[in-house]
Amino acid sequence: MKEKSKKFKYFTYIRSKFDYIMKKILVTGGTGFIGSHTVVELINAGYEVVIADNLSNSKTGSLEGIEQITGVKAPFERVDLCDKVAFEALLKKHRSINAVIHFAAFKAVGESVEQPLKYYHNNLTSLINLLDLMPQYGIENIVFSSSCTVYGQPEQLPVTEQSPIQPATSPYGQTKQISETIIRDVVAASDRIKSIALRYFNPIGAHASALIGELPVGTPNNLMPFITQTAIGIREQLNVFGNDYNTPDGSCIRDYIHVVDLAKAHVTAVSRLMENRNKKPFEIFNLGTGTGVSVLELITTFEKVTGVKLNYRIVGRRAGDTEQVWADTSFANNELGWKTLSTLEETLLSAWNWEKRINNNG
Ligand code: UD1
Repeated sequence: MKEKSKKFKYFTYIRSKFDYIMKKILVTGGTGFIGSHTVVELINAGYEVVIADNLSNSKTGSLEGIEQITGVKAPFERVDLCDKVAFEALLKKHRSINAVIHFAAFKAVGESVEQPLKYYHNNLTSLINLLDLMPQYGIENIVFSSSCTVYGQPEQLPVTEQSPIQPATSPYGQTKQISETIIRDVVAASDRIKSIALRYFNPIGAHASALIGELPVGTPNNLMPFITQTAIGIREQLNVFGNDYNTPDGSCIRDYIHVVDLAKAHVTAVSRLMENRNKKPFEIFNLGTGTGVSVLELITTFEKVTGVKLNYRIVGRRAGDTEQVWADTSFANNELGWKTLSTLEETLLSAWNWEKRINNNG
């Protein structure tokens, strides 16, 4: 009997070590911009990663980049998470997943206004399928990609996690708010599922190797890829949407965060959940630098660090734009134990190096 208990203890000990080494994380949307950088950081931190993506807004080139950077070929499944049968087949194939980081979603604000159902269907169905399947496959932890868009135009800056949620200005923003609500309700109803929602400010930049980065399909909606594409000559001119805002130089202010810093926050968040270090079953963190930068400041800094003059002009405001928003990062810094490391200059240079490399110009 004594022998048996000794053996059992030894077995439990070995299994706990094995579990630690083999922690397996499903990254949905893992070939995309933030997803691919997070996969790299997870692998670097010693996690096993399974990537799921339907490639609707990304290419398999990022898989090669991930492999070149890490030396690890993470298994990739081309799956549309709205297809529950296919999603379940993935979970059957890749057993014993410990956590999911759920990036997979559409994110173009303007398109969401034109095609709201596309956004509600994709962003919500995939999440509901995931939450529905998680308990059946023993998955208890989910990190969710949320956005500072939930704060709208905050009355007080910087924005803390307690700042009131404002009515969404687009169906895209609405899906982020609804998704957070769905997760909150599911977590409350379950005694096992735990979640962290990460509210991103404006992720930009690329991996220092320039092997992965942002690869917008068609004309970019976001400022950073528009800047780099203008600088390299793909776009003739950059339009600055408004210089009559109530800000020091009249252009909008955002909190631009290096995507690698953002990716590292996901490693911290997912390990917090898996190691039960979370204080509440559903936690929310702002992920930003804590510094607001205007569109015109971003352009000037880009020109300074790259030595490239940008052809830009001031045009009218873009409908639905928030005037200014930046993060209070103290909760993420103190409670999550994470902070950004990159300067704005390094961040902009990394975006430029990536643009040059993908155009075989670097
Ligand atoms: C928006 C969403 C954010 C979402 C992100 C991802 C809102 C309020 N924000 O961020 O939630 O996660 O898109 O797609 O819904 N700009 C120009 N010229 C350009 C492009 C942009 O001047 O060609 C300006 C914009 O007016 C804005 C700033 O640059 O002031 C940043 O814009 P963008 O990169 O599109 O991000 P957000 O609108 O902040």
